[in-house]
Amino acid sequence: MPRRQAPLPAQIRRGPVRKIRARRPTRGGGRSAKPLENGNFWKNGRSGRIRTCDPCVPNAVLYRAEPHSDKKAAYSVGFDAPQAAGLRNFVSVKMDLETLILPAGQAASEAAARTLAAGGLVAFPTETVYGLGADAANATAIAHLYAAKGRPAFNPLIAHVADLAAARRIGRFDARALKLAEAFWPGPLTLVVPKTEGCPVAELATAGLDTVAIRIPAHPVAQAILRAFGGAVVAPSANISGHVSPTLAAHVESDLSGRIDLIVDGGPVEVGVESTIIGCFEAPMLLRPGGLSRERIEAVLGVPLARPPADESDDSQPLAPGMLASHYAPRACVRLNARDVSPGEALLAFGPARLPGLEAAAAVMNLSRAGDLDEAAANLFGYLRTLDAKGPRAIAVMAIPEEGLGEAINDRLRRAAVAR
Ligand code: TXA
Ligand code: MG
Repeated sequence: MPRRQAPLPAQIRRGPVRKIRARRPTRGGGRSAKPLENGNFWKNGRSGRIRTCDPCVPNAVLYRAEPHSDKKAAYSVGFDAPQAAGLRNFVSVKMDLETLILPAGQAASEAAARTLAAGGLVAFPTETVYGLGADAANATAIAHLYAAKGRPAFNPLIAHVADLAAARRIGRFDARALKLAEAFWPGPLTLVVPKTEGCPVAELATAGLDTVAIRIPAHPVAQAILRAFGGAVVAPSANISGHVSPTLAAHVESDLSGRIDLIVDGGPVEVGVESTIIGCFEAPMLLRPGGLSRERIEAVLGVPLARPPADESDDSQPLAPGMLASHYAPRACVRLNARDVSPGEALLAFGPARLPGLEAAAAVMNLSRAGDLDEAAANLFGYLRTLDAKGPRAIAVMAIPEEGLGEAINDRLRRAAVAR
């Protein structure tokens, strides 16, 4: 029986909602994305227009999908008559792509390189989280990437390259930036540096900034894809914008199936939180805590890292827009520093302690019974997704020490807990 669709915003006419078809690959042992169910997204959805600063896509219209954690968000966009709404240069989200899922290997790397070269979108593992890649020099592909994620175009992307020589074609490295690159690349570190003259990364990916974020991932699958492709690949985390980042190919599939061309499945990632971002400014600044601890970076630099100005977390003009206040959010509310569990809450535990009320919890997962912060980081996003899927009243989270990767874990949890 056809479902009723909720009313659209007045100025927008929606195209037909299409069923996502699964494709069974004939060779290579890939598996296909599952078809998603028809949905009634607009009940909770909203849309927005964003003017981009790229001359190729001056008026891209990107529609933000909410609730982002819902599979049905795959139907949040897919308008086919932008002219009717008075919109130009419309960048629509392709909703009916046949998302192919291939196991990592040479065939998958070659398929990924071909897809990127053709302007397609490819999700692949890095050691931090799965990324959603597009050719960094192709503004149209990047516009599709923003649209597929429902990501605001003021939030710039990280350019991924295979080696330092490629990084230096994009960004200018002073002595300190070079020192960090040599100490930690390839690895879970992103450096924000001034662009080179003639930097090949499209303006749309850098949101018009004169700096560019660069990372050399260590993951062998990411390395193989970058080498097979030959150019820089911009890659945000491969999730719907604002949702929990993906640490498994299945997480990518659940968020982006039907919106992207290919998922390369390289199994679970190792680090589990995104790269640490350092602004290589006059005073090196920790823009985002992540998979490389502050302590290790400061030990190499010999100076403490500066902090971004306190008002950076508002949504208007963020210095590192991944620092948006509400981010990494499951659907359930998140309650931090829990010392007990209320009936119907799920518990995200850390360490050996048993909290009062545990028996009445909707579900319990322990990030690390041994209190190991690296293990906790690797489990964080997957466990948040699993607990969220159980539909608890809220997710109560035990306190996590603010040291090592605990700084990144707490950062993500605070953003997940912001009232929406
Ligand atoms: O581990 C990671 O970093 C993953 C994997 C896929 O590499 N990527 C990732 O990308 O987390 P994304 O897009 O989710 O986060 C990139 C962050 C955003 O907060 C963005 O604002 C910031 O990098 N960024 C990018 N370019 C910047 C720039 N020029 N200046 C300051 N921040 C920048
Ligand atoms: Mg992200």
